[in-house]
Amino acid sequence: MEESRTHIVIGITGGIAAYKTMHLIRLFKKNGCDVKVVATQHAMEFVTKTTIETLSQNPLCVDLFDHSMPYNVQHIALAEWADAVVVAPATANIIGKFAHGIADDLLSTILLACRKPIFIAPAMNDNMYLEPSVQLNITSLREKGCYIISPNSGFLACGTNGTGRMEEPEEIYKDVMQFLNGPQPLSGKKVMITAGPTYEPIDPVRFVGNRSSGLMGFALAEVAAKMGAEVTLVTGPTHLDTKNEHVHRVNVETAEEMYQQCMSVQEEQDIMIMAAAVADYTPADPAKEKIKKKDDQLQLQLTKTKDILASIGKVKRDNQILVGFALETEHERENALKKLHNKNADMIVLNSLRDKGAGFGTPTNKVLMITKDEQTFESELKSKADIAKDILNVVCKLL
Ligand code: CTP
Repeated sequence: MEESRTHIVIGITGGIAAYKTMHLIRLFKKNGCDVKVVATQHAMEFVTKTTIETLSQNPLCVDLFDHSMPYNVQHIALAEWADAVVVAPATANIIGKFAHGIADDLLSTILLACRKPIFIAPAMNDNMYLEPSVQLNITSLREKGCYIISPNSGFLACGTNGTGRMEEPEEIYKDVMQFLNGPQPLSGKKVMITAGPTYEPIDPVRFVGNRSSGLMGFALAEVAAKMGAEVTLVTGPTHLDTKNEHVHRVNVETAEEMYQQCMSVQEEQDIMIMAAAVADYTPADPAKEKIKKKDDQLQLQLTKTKDILASIGKVKRDNQILVGFALETEHERENALKKLHNKNADMIVLNSLRDKGAGFGTPTNKVLMITKDEQTFESELKSKADIAKDILNVVCKLL
């Protein structure tokens, strides 16, 4: 899901807390962010290039004039690439340089060039931290619009007890993500999403399937996780990947497997969104061996699959939100409304087939959302990630 990945530049300066930044890199990566690390020469006394590159899966940047890099003006490119820059640990030195507009290495240059949110997590000896000029510099960074993640009190590496210990990586991660994602309206909520096509076997090598790419369901899963939800993504075969650790992926092939997986977790869900293109019919008696070519005609007997949306609609509690999708070619609104009521859903998302760029296999979509009380919300043609945001925002209103 490249389009929705958050870009984080992590700046590391020369403090012992740099070892904790390795965990911070891991947290951003585990949660689906792209991370590039810029370290000062002094930082490299505390951590290694191999560790940083292995964790971030990107080349480490240290030098302002690194001729091996693919672009010439590296500090500008990185400042533009970033959605946020996080300096952790931030020494008195980098804080002082940034506060006074000094740019004498790659990191300090990026900080001056960057117009994105900048987070500074100071870490130093308590006397240094409380020294008036350092405090003045921190105040001046706050006034510039930087977000200061204040250090904790406690045992410091220099052997004293005081304020100056870098905030824990988990807290830094949370602060940054909350700032970037805004409030997390789905925090503490469980969301189940179905995605992709189903493959119904004809014989061991052939199947009946459809052209669903899974993009809409995967986008919903990523956005729901970013909004704070724990997501179970039950997906048919697709080439898509999800890296967010709050998205628990369950792979299935057939409509029956998808039904079984959904039914086994539906009770504990707060929200269920059925974005999969589930086969309505499946070969009645799939052949055990590969079917050989014989007559001019071959007839396939198909039987109806279980309707997952309708089955959940029958058992769901009033405090569970159930969302279905509809793809109609005629009497769109009427048919969608019929589906909404017949399957006891709380909302139906009507996919447009009339608009170019909407529907199956495309990266964009255009939808009309209709709620149980027949309120409608329309989304223009936009990326599936943005449509997913619109859908989940309406779901939040229903909660
Ligand atoms: N759906 C489901 N289980 C099925 C078939 C469909 O959960 N066996 C869900 C889809 O995920 C979607 C909704 O039902 O959210 C509507 O799917 P759609 O195929 O448009 O509707 P059907 O009820 O199958 O009706 P029809 O194909 O006749 O339009």
